[in-house]
Amino acid sequence: MGFDFDTIVERRGTASAKWDLADDGMLPMWVADMDFAAPPEVVEALRDRLDHPVFGYTLVSDSYREAFRDWQRRRNRLDIEPQSVLSTPGVMPAIRAAIDALSEPGDQIVVQTPVYYPFFDAVRSKRRRLRFNPLREDDLHYRMDFEQLEGLFRGGARLLLFSSPHNPVARVWTVAELQRLAELVRRWDVTVISDEIHSDIIYPAARFVSLLSLVPERCVACFSVSKTFNLAGIGASQTVVPDELLRGRLAAVLKRDGLASVENALSLAAAEAAYRHGEPWLEALLRYLRFNSALLGEELARRLPEVRMTPQQGTYVAWLDFRALQRDRGLHDAQLKRVLERRARVWLSPGVQFGRGGCGFQRLNFAAARSVVAQAIDRICDAFERP
Ligand SMILES: Cc1ncc(COP(=O)(O)O)c(C=O)c1O
Repeated sequence: MGFDFDTIVERRGTASAKWDLADDGMLPMWVADMDFAAPPEVVEALRDRLDHPVFGYTLVSDSYREAFRDWQRRRNRLDIEPQSVLSTPGVMPAIRAAIDALSEPGDQIVVQTPVYYPFFDAVRSKRRRLRFNPLREDDLHYRMDFEQLEGLFRGGARLLLFSSPHNPVARVWTVAELQRLAELVRRWDVTVISDEIHSDIIYPAARFVSLLSLVPERCVACFSVSKTFNLAGIGASQTVVPDELLRGRLAAVLKRDGLASVENALSLAAAEAAYRHGEPWLEALLRYLRFNSALLGEELARRLPEVRMTPQQGTYVAWLDFRALQRDRGLHDAQLKRVLERRARVWLSPGVQFGRGGCGFQRLNFAAARSVVAQAIDRICDAFERP
């Protein structure tokens, strides 16, 4: 079956955070949601559910759990016990609850910058102390600094907030890297909140491995249909905690905060349909995204070689290095942002938001119709092209 990702779906006027916050004429390419219609089976499942007009308190059905477990088995060769899955209303609510459940105020929590910036506030707002283990960058190849990480564990940090695949640098961690991480967390008795929300957006050169398969006893892993099937407004996520003790602690916090019984009848219907029937759509999407990413990389290399793109192993956000261009044109970060927004009329996520190592970078979401991505590239190149 063919899927149409080329037709532009007008999103303005739908209370879209991406489009309705942007001025007319601006191309928003910052937030990580896609401009594509959800898989047709998801829309159909929502219609079917609407045909029954009662929307009372709703259970998480065995069939919903089964659909998620089947998906992980099929896609990631990951066997998940039914009782390990907690249904949660989103990955960030689950992470915040996990921070509460697994640490105390004043505790140290490690993040590896540049990283998805809501992590910072999630830690600080819970009165925990952020500890930074910046990724090492060598000619746009990123890796974890295991020596420094071990130093932070030695210094008392017992919780790691991990992004896998890593947003924003588009890295899919290899088994060898994950094994090394697993050894360290075992040695230092660390627990990992592994945010695996981007784990279905993986390109052929990489293979996703869940940290769950390496250290199940120390891992709280977060998944969701929101990135995979473009259902961020649906609010359904799955938090997998194989260890009974850790799971009990997280379940108690979810219950205490009123997050355990927020079961949305429509979200569950949509998420189950996505996991059951969405695979052909996802495969077609991945092919489409790969071409968008290639277009972006090739056009920048041709027209604006001072801007380079990090190799795209996963995710649909590109991590663009503007450092050479900034040096060359004498632009600091605020001036760069002004040129992008006022002259190019594209709205990207400034790298500085993602913490140390983000300065001089911009994150661009290329999950849009190809003509829109092409237009964004044109605008960026035109804005910086020398007369
Ligand atoms: C790494 C990462 N975690 C979490 C989220 C947000 O998840 P949710 O909307 O389910 O809270 C995002 C969204 O962009 C993300 O990139």
